[in-house]
Amino acid sequence: MRRLNQVLAVCLLPLAVAPIAHAEMQAAAPASAAPAKAAFSLPQLPYAANALEPAIDAETMKIHHGKHHQAYVDTLNKAVAEDKKLAGQTIEQLVAKAGTFPVTVRNNAGGHWNHTFFWKIMAPEAKAGSPSPELSKAINSSFGSMDKFKQSFKEAGTKRFGSGWVWLIVDNSGKLAITSTPNQDNPLMDVAEQKGKPILGNDVWEHAYYLKYQNRRGDYLDGWWKVVNWAEVSRLYAEAAGRK
Ligand SMILES: [Fe+2]
Repeated sequence: MRRLNQVLAVCLLPLAVAPIAHAEMQAAAPASAAPAKAAFSLPQLPYAANALEPAIDAETMKIHHGKHHQAYVDTLNKAVAEDKKLAGQTIEQLVAKAGTFPVTVRNNAGGHWNHTFFWKIMAPEAKAGSPSPELSKAINSSFGSMDKFKQSFKEAGTKRFGSGWVWLIVDNSGKLAITSTPNQDNPLMDVAEQKGKPILGNDVWEHAYYLKYQNRRGDYLDGWWKVVNWAEVSRLYAEAAGRK
């Protein structure tokens, strides 16, 4: 009987110890398995995906926002998680020093900033409104008229070779100017040829228009004016002009 008890004790020991070991593993797991909070996230569109039709079709909006913008956010988060020097920096700080970072950071920080801006300076046609008197005056003064401004903006957009953006900025002297940047660069970057604060911008990457317009970038630029959120652009102008 004594021998039997000894055998049972040896056999049952692992069963008694196992739950403790398992509990320890569970207690330790969250520290190593919990994912770090991502530095940046995809903002929600401020309107439905079909709200900018017919200027921009719903399918393009869904892919542009949900796939392209999401990819910029994901790639940027990965780059930030892998480089301690980038930790804790805001998107504005990353963009301002884009030229000092690896090209992946420049491209994807730019992609995130540019698209976040882009969604906000558009609105459904019924809510697009018109420029404030101050902005209208500044546009007339800088470009001659609203029509001439739109013509110059379109020209800058169609001339951008490959992928990029066309912008209306308040430059460092406080004046309005049209400029264009390649890839996902923008006028806030240290690498920009012409620097300033963007108050309006259009994405001329093919992913922004190809499903509906194919190669007709000029038609996309013409149709886009109907969905410019002039209230937001006017607010950005007042903010930028007051910053001097
Ligand atoms: Fe885009």
